[in-house]
Amino acid sequence: MSNPLHSSFIYFSCQHGAEATIKSQLCEPEGPYRLSYSQKGFVTLKSDLNTPVWSKALPDLPLIRSRGHALAHFDGDQSAELIQQILLEYQGSDWDCLHVWQRDVATPGWHGFEPGRSTLAEMVADQFQKALSERNDPRSQSVNTIAPVGAKLLEVILVDPNRWWVAAKPVQTQADGWPGGVYAVAAPENMISRAYLKISEAIPWSKLPIRPGDRIVEIGSSPGGACQRLLDLGAQVTGIDPAEMDESIAGNPRFEHWRSKSLQVKRKLFRPFRYLVCDANVAPNYTLDTVESIVTYPTSKFRGLILTIKLSSWEQAKEIPHHLERVRSWGFERVEARQLAHNRREYCLVAERTDKDH
Ligand SMILES: C[S@@+](CC[C@H](N)C(=O)[O-])C[C@H]1O[C@@H](n2cnc3c(N)ncnc32)[C@H](O)[C@@H]1O
Repeated sequence: MSNPLHSSFIYFSCQHGAEATIKSQLCEPEGPYRLSYSQKGFVTLKSDLNTPVWSKALPDLPLIRSRGHALAHFDGDQSAELIQQILLEYQGSDWDCLHVWQRDVATPGWHGFEPGRSTLAEMVADQFQKALSERNDPRSQSVNTIAPVGAKLLEVILVDPNRWWVAAKPVQTQADGWPGGVYAVAAPENMISRAYLKISEAIPWSKLPIRPGDRIVEIGSSPGGACQRLLDLGAQVTGIDPAEMDESIAGNPRFEHWRSKSLQVKRKLFRPFRYLVCDANVAPNYTLDTVESIVTYPTSKFRGLILTIKLSSWEQAKEIPHHLERVRSWGFERVEARQLAHNRREYCLVAERTDKDH
């Protein structure tokens, strides 16, 4: 009853503007793919191989937000008809979970736009859920829930309201299991800055075991969105920034403000901290020089780092492997990079030291 699915196309999704850099790394002559259908934030590529869709052979680059084996597109303006066609084609196949999500319509933060569940995607997801439960398909429960590593995921991607792509992939990473590769963050009403969204996504992606009471220092902490989230998690937070903090943060008894530039802070004062967060609007090498001088100081005992690295151009993303190598050389065993959905032209670097002496 189940049809084995194959495809010679892959897709990737990314932030608007990152497409060309990713294509240049994956397409001939550097990579095995040729360019196929492409829109801002959603690109399909063709290879010579007709691969089973549960194959793990999918590209993994820091600027790629979501990836999969592209199967087909369905065009029309009646969602009920498109859903019927898609289920007719794929309901009999061997998948576990269904995600429905929409291609980004803008860059993150542009006029309030944030990647993630759009009204349209929510509406179509509800329709899929109803259609599957009417057919007594237990997979109706899986629609837009987090898919576990190992699950076989079918995706319906609303590339345009009347052009839906269907793709499939085995869930290989935590972020593969988030609909569209976006960790759903609810912005609180009193959100101080977008940095709240960035750190709320960075923490689960980083897998750093941050606990209430942990001492965390943030370089570039003003006005305080990231500190807001860290304080909500019960951490003891110190913010370093010459600029003012929002008064709700400044007045929190678990917060301390060192009002200066990071270079002016004596290195030995970093001794009590377990985690370092850095979100200063400076060039990558300046961030890395600053953090290196702090974490390699003999009295420092950092277990984890969450660094926002600004990219002055998309081309600069090609330097990410060098950034990772440099951070590894400071003694961090696990060092990873990802452009988070809530990042702008920047990416998140996470590092964890796993040896017991730290
Ligand atoms: C993107 S904002 C930070 C947003 C902040 N993380 C939040 O949660 O709201 C960048 C900040 O970096 C600060 N900054 C730039 N260079 C710095 C340095 N050398 N030391 C400390 N802060 C710095 C700026 O003053 C600015 O407030």
